[in-house]
Amino acid sequence: MSRRQVLAAAGGTGLLAAAAGQAGTARAATTRARRVRPSGDGTPEQIHLTWGENPGSDVVVSWASPEAAARPRVRIGQRVIPAETRHYTDGINGETVWTYHARVSGLRPGATYAYTVTADNDGNGAEPFSAMFRTAPPGRAPFRFTSFGDLATPNTDWALSYGQSAYAVEAVESFQPLFHLLNGDLCYSNLNPATQPAVWRDFGRNNQTSAANRPWMPCPGNHEIEFYNGPQGLTSYLTRYTLPDNRIPGFGGRWYSFRVGTILFVCLDADDVVYQDAAAFVTGPAELTPAASTGNPPLKPGTSFYVRGYSDGAQTAWLERTLTAGRRDDSLDWIVVQMHQCAASSSLAGNGSDLGIRAAWLPLFDRYEVDLVLNGHDHDYERSFPVRGADTDAGRRAAGGAVVNTLRPHPVTTTDTGVFDTSQGTVYLTLGCGGTNTNLDEYGLDTAGGQRQAKIFTQASRPELTAAPDVYARAAADAVEDAVWSARRDTSTGYGIAVFDVDPGSEADGHPSITVTQYHAAGADLINPATGAKGAPTPDYTEFETFKLIRPRR
Ligand SMILES: [Fe+2]
Repeated sequence: MSRRQVLAAAGGTGLLAAAAGQAGTARAATTRARRVRPSGDGTPEQIHLTWGENPGSDVVVSWASPEAAARPRVRIGQRVIPAETRHYTDGINGETVWTYHARVSGLRPGATYAYTVTADNDGNGAEPFSAMFRTAPPGRAPFRFTSFGDLATPNTDWALSYGQSAYAVEAVESFQPLFHLLNGDLCYSNLNPATQPAVWRDFGRNNQTSAANRPWMPCPGNHEIEFYNGPQGLTSYLTRYTLPDNRIPGFGGRWYSFRVGTILFVCLDADDVVYQDAAAFVTGPAELTPAASTGNPPLKPGTSFYVRGYSDGAQTAWLERTLTAGRRDDSLDWIVVQMHQCAASSSLAGNGSDLGIRAAWLPLFDRYEVDLVLNGHDHDYERSFPVRGADTDAGRRAAGGAVVNTLRPHPVTTTDTGVFDTSQGTVYLTLGCGGTNTNLDEYGLDTAGGQRQAKIFTQASRPELTAAPDVYARAAADAVEDAVWSARRDTSTGYGIAVFDVDPGSEADGHPSITVTQYHAAGADLINPATGAKGAPTPDYTEFETFKLIRPRR
């Protein structure tokens, strides 16, 4: 039976109740009960999937439409599932964005489903959008996931967008993972403040190529934080995504966890703990003036949206509870964390590492033996040795050279064997290699000793007035350290995708493993910092390196 025949046969009308809406979006509104007359354009676009509460049985189908949709719904099997409508009005340009979320529950684990998305005012109503997805397998099953961050859009009208963004999405599809982890800085909307909804639209249309076929699980980055869009600037992000519930009132969607097979995945919002100020920012000399319809006053030069500490410890407390429960569960082998900003990056051209993350969360990652931490933010690829604990007083002030405690991650080995026991130390991967127009594959070196060197933010990099009138800038990282934890850096390109193959091991031998392979798009750099060669977007992803994580089963 073809996909089309499957869908044609699925004409039943059984209704599933849509679950309650996602909490905490300041300016978003839920209008499930509102009657929308089918006059505007309710054609589904930007269709994407996320896992529901249990990836074996629950998937959320989300999408947007140019205008309000009438009776937005998903058809799957014999069921028609009404979608919850959420909309928000952008706080800068006043545009209203309509999104829809259908929670599909009661699915069988490890099964493939076809679905359609439509509405009464769907311009494609005669032949609605359709796609297929797989649910997570039951028990101790092998599976594959992929990851990168910093995707941007293929529309080069937007700041930081680049054609590699389309090839990066196609790369995900080429590896056919069960799901993809998108570790922050989705589309750089806040660098295009007057056109934020249009940037998001190009992002959503681009990643639909993959995200309609398999869940893409995001975490917020500094560039999802938008002026006048909610208490942390995340209203657009939170309106567009329905994510597993963290059960923390007021902070829904900002951080969450889910489980697939023998892995607990923990997705964090590092904006809450980093020192670096890197979210929405008015550099000047001009003010940023919102559309009159928003009623929002102009933002003066030097205004930044700094949200460090916004959860007042609630996220860290949740993290510890989640890790405690994860390590108490004998059916789980691994804990994988994704967040946007870096605890261990030695990028020279990019941001570097942040003491805020090291101080708040690395002691927890150590105590609960987090196996793997994935982040983006720096547009390159870097892998750490397994690290545990911290070297004190290993840092120096970038200005003046005074000793500073950067809580430098301590490597448990500096022999790059390609096989690492993560019960002994956590491996950190920087994967900001999605598709921006800014390759940052240039890394620090201590010119005195020839060792790898990392920059670290140890204090807030708040805006400061420059020599130019009414022009503000934010400082680079204020400290450096010899990056003894850095094991591998890709100097050939800033673009790639990490592919993770999870082998749960047999009941008898008890040797679970995760094989990690980084594929890179050599030649995609606009300018390669190592060679000066000019490149262009490329669909060719080839292997850069592969290594294996192991840990004994308890
Ligand atoms: Fe970032």
